[in-house]
Amino acid sequence: MVLNEYVRDIQDFPKPGIGFKDITPLLADPKAVKASIAQLMSTIKDKNIDKVVGIESRGYFLGTILAYELNAGFVPVRKPGKLPYSTIAASYDLEYGQDTLEIHTDAIKEGECVLIHDDVLATGGTASAVCELVEKLGGEIVQCNFLMELSFLNGRDKLSQYNIYAAINY
Ligand code: PRP
Ligand code: MG
Repeated sequence: MVLNEYVRDIQDFPKPGIGFKDITPLLADPKAVKASIAQLMSTIKDKNIDKVVGIESRGYFLGTILAYELNAGFVPVRKPGKLPYSTIAASYDLEYGQDTLEIHTDAIKEGECVLIHDDVLATGGTASAVCELVEKLGGEIVQCNFLMELSFLNGRDKLSQYNIYAAINY
């Protein structure tokens, strides 16, 4: 199955000049979701993973399924002010704008093995902020995996010390 056939290009969204990769056609097709999970699992299924960290909001769609498949816990990283317990925060530059992400201080225990998942690796700002949060809590990052990578934005440069896997490459 060619997964990128299920990703729709939307020009000038959310701002002029931005080419948006819309994954809703993929999410709406159970065969495409199953194939995506199979690909994302292919390089991680034999590793011990204690926690899958999914990044709000598009990292939740497949991140929870990956956690279930790996028999791991799911940890939501959220946008500011959404998590009710004590948190730590990291700020980052986005392809369009700036933002902050938070994680609960008890979400990951010292030495736990972590898979970080998001839908897109673009400039890498989001994922590198999440790596910082996970490492502050003592987590060991086994892999960062993404449904797709926009390789022309060189996000891997910000994540050079980690194992990176993307199911679809642009
Ligand atoms: C998008 C995308 C990734 C991030 C990638 O999320 O879902 O999380 O940007 O960009 P980067 O590699 O340049 O940091 P967005 O912040 O738009 O929020 P959403 O997931 O809630 O739609
Ligand atoms: Mg996102």
